[in-house]
Amino acid sequence: MRGCIDMYEILKKDESGLINNKIASSMVKFVQEDNDSVIMDISRINISGDVLMHFMNSNWDAVLSTGVDNIDRQHQELFKLINNLVNAMNEEKSKIEIIEALSSLEEHAIHHINEEEAIQKQNNYPGFDIHQMQHEEFKECLRDIRSFLETREVSTLFIIHMQQKIFKWCREHMLNADRDLGEFLINSRRN
Ligand SMILES: [Fe+2]
Ligand SMILES: [Fe+2]
Repeated sequence: MRGCIDMYEILKKDESGLINNKIASSMVKFVQEDNDSVIMDISRINISGDVLMHFMNSNWDAVLSTGVDNIDRQHQELFKLINNLVNAMNEEKSKIEIIEALSSLEEHAIHHINEEEAIQKQNNYPGFDIHQMQHEEFKECLRDIRSFLETREVSTLFIIHMQQKIFKWCREHMLNADRDLGEFLINSRRN
């Protein structure tokens, strides 16, 4: 539900003119009425593949920088792999290809999380417990995606919810927890 409200915010800000008023007003109606039957209507709105791709992709940008090159490079790769997964679903690739895209994302995410947590331990980072708890949330999110994909068919609604949830987590975590960590590491190196 929340994901679709976020989607409307993205559509409203769209300046490319790809989103027409009819679609936008349907979204308003959805937000105002706020019930399950209206939510399902969203999957029947005729949005072309190109338009879906337009608002579903999200890229790493400089505002997310932690100041630590290695962490930033891994974050950029994380965004790329999430986009690969979203695109594989949106392009209606086979289940095998979609699961492969998810596996690549999982592999990189676990590697990145392990590395970040190892750095925190090595440096006696005081925010370790909270940071680790947030990482666990992300791992759970990936497990949920896998169990959905292994048991159910992909729908537009699922793609929208998934991409909103995963990018929201990444941006919020990078903007707060990872940036705090970056600042700590930079300060420790200076002292
Ligand atoms: Fe982190
Ligand atoms: Fe991170």
